[in-house]
Amino acid sequence: MDQAQADRCALAEQLTAWRRHLHAHPELSNQEHETAAFVRARLEELGVPCTPGVGGTGLVATLSRGQSNRSVGLRADMDALPIAETSGLPYASSRSGVMHACGHDGHTASLLGAAALLAGDPSWSGTVQFVFQPAEEGGGGARNMLSDGLLERFPMERIFAYHNWPGLPAGTVAVHDAAVMAAAARLEITLNGHAGHAALPQLTRDPMLAAAHLLVALQSVVSRNVDPLDSAVVSVCMIEGGVAANQIPERAVLRGTFRSHRPAVRDTVETGIRRIAAGIAASFGMSADVIIRHGAAATVNSKPEADLAAAAAAAAGLPVRRDLPPSMAGEDFGWYLHERPGAFIWIGNGPVTPGRELHNPSYDFNDEILPCAAAFMAGAAKLALASG
Ligand code: NI
Repeated sequence: MDQAQADRCALAEQLTAWRRHLHAHPELSNQEHETAAFVRARLEELGVPCTPGVGGTGLVATLSRGQSNRSVGLRADMDALPIAETSGLPYASSRSGVMHACGHDGHTASLLGAAALLAGDPSWSGTVQFVFQPAEEGGGGARNMLSDGLLERFPMERIFAYHNWPGLPAGTVAVHDAAVMAAAARLEITLNGHAGHAALPQLTRDPMLAAAHLLVALQSVVSRNVDPLDSAVVSVCMIEGGVAANQIPERAVLRGTFRSHRPAVRDTVETGIRRIAAGIAASFGMSADVIIRHGAAATVNSKPEADLAAAAAAAAGLPVRRDLPPSMAGEDFGWYLHERPGAFIWIGNGPVTPGRELHNPSYDFNDEILPCAAAFMAGAAKLALASG
């Protein structure tokens, strides 16, 4: 084994140990205090200065080298999910009801790996900002960092990140030219009826019956309003109403989510939901309150940065796919891409064995891809600093 190979093996072992430590000590969104302290301690060991407390529990490490004033950002998310782990692994979560079920432990370890590679590499010039983001899972982490002055305090011309992707061969990189992940919004519709005796419906306005009609009618929002060649999904996932089997209740509440890739489609879907909720409610003689909360923006790559990411992956010796359709899952990296050009890519986590899907209680990040991901991130940063 030559020195370079020995270094690669040592880094792989190190990253695996870090990833498993993070896996065993997961923290929920906006509570990543120990995770941030762990990241900070590793960065200090690497001699990479960092600024804690950016956007809450986030931190940014900055590495500058040479004379160039060019800059680039690399981002990883750090939070875990409110899921009780059932993997039975020796490094399974030590915290009941909290689990790294989306692989953000791996993303964090990979970004530390990229920092280690770039800190030990004299062949580049410029500034790399390593963005360790909290609260990706619906907690507003990206927006909190941006509103805390991320881009002003830590200048970056472009930004890159990755998500591990179960079902794609381990280490294979998927790059999208434009849309990668969907915009996500939550919806809550309250039907305000009039309560009364179940046997005297003529004296009531029944929100349960209206909810049933509304649930069915909402499935026409996409099928009858959105161009079939576009993509969108509306899912009603909760219905709440009633406290007794012999009372027609006062109200019923439907909750769900809708996803889309293009702002125009998102607006069409939102308008359709509001129109149908108001119309169904009116037809049953009641009112509807519609609350829509927009979460993650759509994650849409810019073409030059997608090309750059693909080139970096190929240079790192990783197979590249550019033919995969985007996902309807949400991802808050889209907020950065509103402000700066960049790319969000997928790195294969290997085959999906049953129960090993993202957000499953026995999911586990594949440690084999840590060195690939670290090499990709470091390579993308160097290429971005060197190219026009
Ligand atoms: Ni995730």
